[in-house]
Amino acid sequence: MSHNILVIGSSNTDMVVQVPNLPAAGETILGGVFQQASGGKGANQAVAAKRCGGQVALLACVGDDSLGEAVLKAYQADGIDVSAVVVDPKAKSGVAIIMVNKDGENSIAVASGANDCLTVEHIEKNKALIEQAKVILFQLETPLPTIEKAIALAAAANKIIILNPAPAQALSDRLLSQISLLTPNETEASLLTGIAVCDATSAKKAAQCLLLKGVQQVIITMGELGVFYMDAKQAQMFPAFNVKATDSTAAGDTFNGALAAVLANQEEIFSCIHFAQAAAALSVQKSGAQPSIPCKQEVMDFLASRPLTS
Ligand code: RIB
Repeated sequence: MSHNILVIGSSNTDMVVQVPNLPAAGETILGGVFQQASGGKGANQAVAAKRCGGQVALLACVGDDSLGEAVLKAYQADGIDVSAVVVDPKAKSGVAIIMVNKDGENSIAVASGANDCLTVEHIEKNKALIEQAKVILFQLETPLPTIEKAIALAAAANKIIILNPAPAQALSDRLLSQISLLTPNETEASLLTGIAVCDATSAKKAAQCLLLKGVQQVIITMGELGVFYMDAKQAQMFPAFNVKATDSTAAGDTFNGALAAVLANQEEIFSCIHFAQAAAALSVQKSGAQPSIPCKQEVMDFLASRPLTS
């Protein structure tokens, strides 16, 4: 199967409970509906990229268990090439325990399991997948040495490298200098730069700092505030779509996957951002990670129904 987008990252099964409010330490609260769904930042981004029109291959690691089998079937049903996904007989598939409150905010704890078993050797073995792709999309739920190796190979092959640095962790300047497009949220941008990001002004300072480290383009996602974009020539704030959030889980993943899908089609960056924002706005209106990710037609219908700045 040919692909123009390769996602290298995590795969989880999400166990989700709706709660009236997120419990404090030591507190037990009675929740509502339970939902089990495929998740993991890598797999979510792969699903979003595919549903938004990309040809997608996923390089991830799952355990040899029923959860791993179920998620692989789901990704295949979405049309994602999973032939390179590693099934590790010694590991358990990744699981995320998620609580979502009445405002759509969440708390997530991840048991990484097999995600921690994606190694540098797996990357070397799949070098051809990197060479075939146009856009390669990374997050930080798999081991950093594995990500570093894959990014080095992708950079040497002149690929468009998107790094969504989630969950937040410190990264070397060397790694950042190889990134085409970095997509932190406010927390991640603050951690990477030491600048507290809370509005367009602070986002601009953080983006400037990241550009100085060698990142080519920076997109800082700021939830209801919108998205800040900056490269060497231009900077712009994109307001968020005004929608009522039911569940924000995977909104960032939807944004990144959708962005990769349209970037792979050589669309210009501002319209890519607008499309990705619309995809994320649709995703927050539904529950669950992958069940909430829209397809390209839904995004286009949504955009057609909204004036540009609403
Ligand atoms: O970004 C959302 C994802 O984070 C969830 O699907 C969960 O699996 C965790 O990886």
